[in-house]
Amino acid sequence: MRSRIAGTGSYLPAQVLTNDDLARRGVDTSDEWVRSRTGILQRHIAAEGELSSDLAYHASRRALEAAGMAAGEIDTIIVATTTPDFVFPSTACILQDRLGLRGGPAFDVQAVCSGFVYALSIADAMIRAGTARNALVVGAETYSHILDWSDRRTCVLFGDGAGAAVLVPSAEPGIVATRLHADGSQRGILSVPGQVRDGKVAGRPFLQMDGQAVFKFAVRALTDVADEALADAGLPRTAIDWLIPHQANLRIMDATAKRLGVPHERVVVTVDRHANTSAASVPLALDEAVRDGRIRPGQHVMLLGVGGGFTWGSALLRWS
Ligand code: ACO
Repeated sequence: MRSRIAGTGSYLPAQVLTNDDLARRGVDTSDEWVRSRTGILQRHIAAEGELSSDLAYHASRRALEAAGMAAGEIDTIIVATTTPDFVFPSTACILQDRLGLRGGPAFDVQAVCSGFVYALSIADAMIRAGTARNALVVGAETYSHILDWSDRRTCVLFGDGAGAAVLVPSAEPGIVATRLHADGSQRGILSVPGQVRDGKVAGRPFLQMDGQAVFKFAVRALTDVADEALADAGLPRTAIDWLIPHQANLRIMDATAKRLGVPHERVVVTVDRHANTSAASVPLALDEAVRDGRIRPGQHVMLLGVGGGFTWGSALLRWS
């Protein structure tokens, strides 16, 4: 038994902030700087009180609708998030309750921007092992909650959003190959070094990053892990019909596509409108390209994630 994606959905909060909006709100930046360094033009920001589980819920409803399935048909829920509603319960358990479900496993995956690829790989393995039947896999983030809005080096790069996929059993492999990696020795180049302890937050609960180190690491890791999935599937690089890399930065995406020999027009880009939505970025881009008809049955789609930890991974799909 293999698995395939039966439907995708996504959700973006209503509020949009352009680069100029950030400058007007006091961030010492300019549209020219952000646009030329990152390709980002704007980002969506959650409303006051809007949490990752809220975004996940809307994206999940849309994915279920696209799959033509009722929530009651889902037995397993995996939410990839670095910005959970609470320390616990997990965002997946909150989502399960909001969908009116009970009893099946529900858990969060914490692999930062690789989270959705990690979660998809786990769900695929569970379906193949027969321990899950229909799985809801979600990437949902509210990075606006962990940004220091006075730090122009980081706050301009991120946004909020969620994307979801319904994974079902299939005789034909929809998920053709997945590969996951981590290197904890690189954890210092991208982190939120805060802890909840003794009723207080200890450390610094804001995202910090060595941008140039991340850039170098990401391009090499994404290229290598794409090649690994292709090798597992016995396919050449030219078999990639659509490349959906983590949407951190247009320059990282362009450099990765160039190294893989994938033409620019075959790369799905949402970073310009969404900024970096971490674990939500890959399913948001996937949903956009499915809904606008770019991704068609029989095509190969390469999903790539890379993020804090450091973590990275790939999922090669054959769309059906
Ligand atoms: N607006 C205006 N000026 C800025 C801004 C900003 N938003 N941010 C930084 N600068 C300034 C800096 O203060 C610095 O000025 P100085 O020389 O006077 O001190 C100058 O620009 C250069 O700063 P750098 O940090 O060296 O800028 P760099 O050219 O490296 O670009 C960037 C920064 C865009 C983040 C780049 O390193 C990059 O693309 N890194 C990839 C990392 C990334 O995209 N991370 C996203 C999250 S990671 C992930 O999702 C896996």
